[in-house]
Amino acid sequence: MSDQTMAGRTVLVTGASDGIGAETARVLAAKGATVHVTGRSADKLRPVAEAVGTEPLVADFSRLDDVRRLAAQVGERVDKLDLLMNNAGGTFAPAKRTHDGHEPNFQVNHLAPFLLTQLLRPRLAAAGSSLVVNTSSIGNLLGKIVLDDLDYDRRRAIEFPAYGTGKLMNIVFTRGISQRWSGDGIVSVAVHPGPVGSSFGRDSWFIGLLYRTPLKRIGTISVPDGAAPLIALAERGADPEIDGRYFSRFKVDGRENKQAHDQAIIDGLWERSEALVGLS
Ligand SMILES: NC(=O)c1ccc[n+]([C@@H]2O[C@H](COP(=O)([O-])OP(=O)(O)OC[C@H]3O[C@@H](n4cnc5c(N)ncnc54)[C@H](OP(=O)(O)O)[C@@H]3O)[C@@H](O)[C@H]2O)c1
Repeated sequence: MSDQTMAGRTVLVTGASDGIGAETARVLAAKGATVHVTGRSADKLRPVAEAVGTEPLVADFSRLDDVRRLAAQVGERVDKLDLLMNNAGGTFAPAKRTHDGHEPNFQVNHLAPFLLTQLLRPRLAAAGSSLVVNTSSIGNLLGKIVLDDLDYDRRRAIEFPAYGTGKLMNIVFTRGISQRWSGDGIVSVAVHPGPVGSSFGRDSWFIGLLYRTPLKRIGTISVPDGAAPLIALAERGADPEIDGRYFSRFKVDGRENKQAHDQAIIDGLWERSEALVGLS
């Protein structure tokens, strides 16, 4: 029987059908949390949902209406949310467009979790003190946010930098939450899990190739090792010390793109994202 450090806490994990999200969900449930899990594939999500003991919540983040439905379902299920783990993400061909017409690295990695978090704010506030963990990446260093061109309509998009831009947005959003929602007792943190040998890159021909070669075994860490920093932050909970900060695995204040500290970017991304999802 593992330690029950998460007893009494209600958690939602996104991207829970695979990789570090699935591992985090299972471990937090074993530590006593009530864990709700969401993913885009009902079949893949089912075994994880069975392991944590809740009904699966299916939502594809490339459809913002799915995110709205997901938030409504969570709102019906729970009175309060102690922990939201915005973990779903990946690399996608930037020439494609989502159902809502957005560049997919932007929508799946940032805009969809932005909308979900906004819609769940009342449930996070109802907990009295709560934590939002955003799974970012060292790839944030390669990102570049252009507020007038969030969808890469007017500049050349290369897949990994476009992914890095989404992961940079995770840190910028983390900072925005800490600046705007602390009155609600909501703490936010971003984390790079490390180079994890998960299914990461499956939606990408190029990144998938790298993650499928024998190099994967040399250059990556295991899924449980990759989930460990997320689990450590979950157990730490809504500690004001970590509010608005970026961890590189267990190390606070990891290397960040300079845009992550640019107040015009923090405010601009927040306001433009609100407008894009119809919240302003
Ligand atoms: N692996 C790494 O080296 C690494 C490094 C830094 C950061 N990260 C970040 O860590 C997080 C978890 O990645 P992972 O390594 O565990 O990779 P993974 O095994 O590919 O898991 C990604 C999860 O996100 C879900 N997802 C992807 N697209 C989605 C969509 N459109 N709608 C809803 N859910 C979607 C996946 O669902 P399906 O199961 O249906 O595909 C899966 O549950 C991601 O945010 C990733 O960017 C990973």
